[in-house]
Amino acid sequence: MNFPVVRPRRLRRTAALRRLVAENRLHPSDLVQPLFVREGITEPRPIPAMPGQLQHTRESLRKAAATAVQAGVGGVMLFGIPEAKHPDGRGAWDERGIAQLAIADVVAEVGDAAVVIGDINLDEYTDHGHVGLLGADGDVDNDATLRAYTRTALAQAEAGAHLVAPSGMMDGQVAAIRAGLDGAGHERVPILAYAAKYDSAFYGPFRTAVESSLVGGRSTHQQDPANLREALREVRLDVEEGADLVMVKPAGLYLDVVRRVADTVDVPVAAYQVSGEYAAIEAAARQGMLHRERAIEESLTAIRRAGARIVITYWATEVAQRLHG
Ligand code: PBG
Repeated sequence: MNFPVVRPRRLRRTAALRRLVAENRLHPSDLVQPLFVREGITEPRPIPAMPGQLQHTRESLRKAAATAVQAGVGGVMLFGIPEAKHPDGRGAWDERGIAQLAIADVVAEVGDAAVVIGDINLDEYTDHGHVGLLGADGDVDNDATLRAYTRTALAQAEAGAHLVAPSGMMDGQVAAIRAGLDGAGHERVPILAYAAKYDSAFYGPFRTAVESSLVGGRSTHQQDPANLREALREVRLDVEEGADLVMVKPAGLYLDVVRRVADTVDVPVAAYQVSGEYAAIEAAARQGMLHRERAIEESLTAIRRAGARIVITYWATEVAQRLHG
């Protein structure tokens, strides 16, 4: 009988051996926690489609950010939900707008101990729910929207954001925002480009979280899930326009895209594990169909293995705490 001489199982025998040879591991500082803050509420409100996540008050947001930073997360990403929405989304760049107030609050709370990230988009602020200003044909007007994004980026930089993240998939958005920031003395504020953001059904829970009134979809600007080469083109353009970091979104269903992007660019790559990825695992775990903590950790490790340096996840604080404990 020929016994195997080469035995890969030798390195799997104990937890210590497995840990020693692990090719990837999660670390709190690789994780970014998205947080929602709602104008005009006095108590935090649960988000039914995202069990465990809240629409925060300004006060509870400060505490949630402090808890995340104590757990060691690398950053927090803030999404404001205004009380009133307008056709032009003007709340997005209002200096007293909810995102600007929240950014200033969180920066006052955590200082430079973590990266405070602002989302540049109008979808939470428009009464039609689209990411920008609408043209006569009902589609988002690219170039008019760029002006609104630039104003929004300036307002967030003035409020103290450490990093701004345009998420609307308008052509030229990185170049426009870079020029606007540089022209106003904010040349040190970096841009995280949502470079390859797909037109995904998995944003559904997020849209309830931000009380979006979107009718129709985003397929004239977000990417077709069928395409990989197109993502490389989008990423290349964003880097040429001055993106300091690039993102692929969603994450778990797009690991091939994450890998190709990570192999192609020399800027840090982030991947966003979106609300539908979160909700799917939470729902299955609640029904006893999955082991919740193992499924979470596996989903995040897979994103790191695919090549993402940074993982944006609604579980960031929880996982960071577990990694510490
Ligand atoms: C735009 C934005 C969206 C998400 C992050 N930024 C919504 C959209 O593009 O429709 C989705 C995030 C998620 O689903 O977790 N403000």
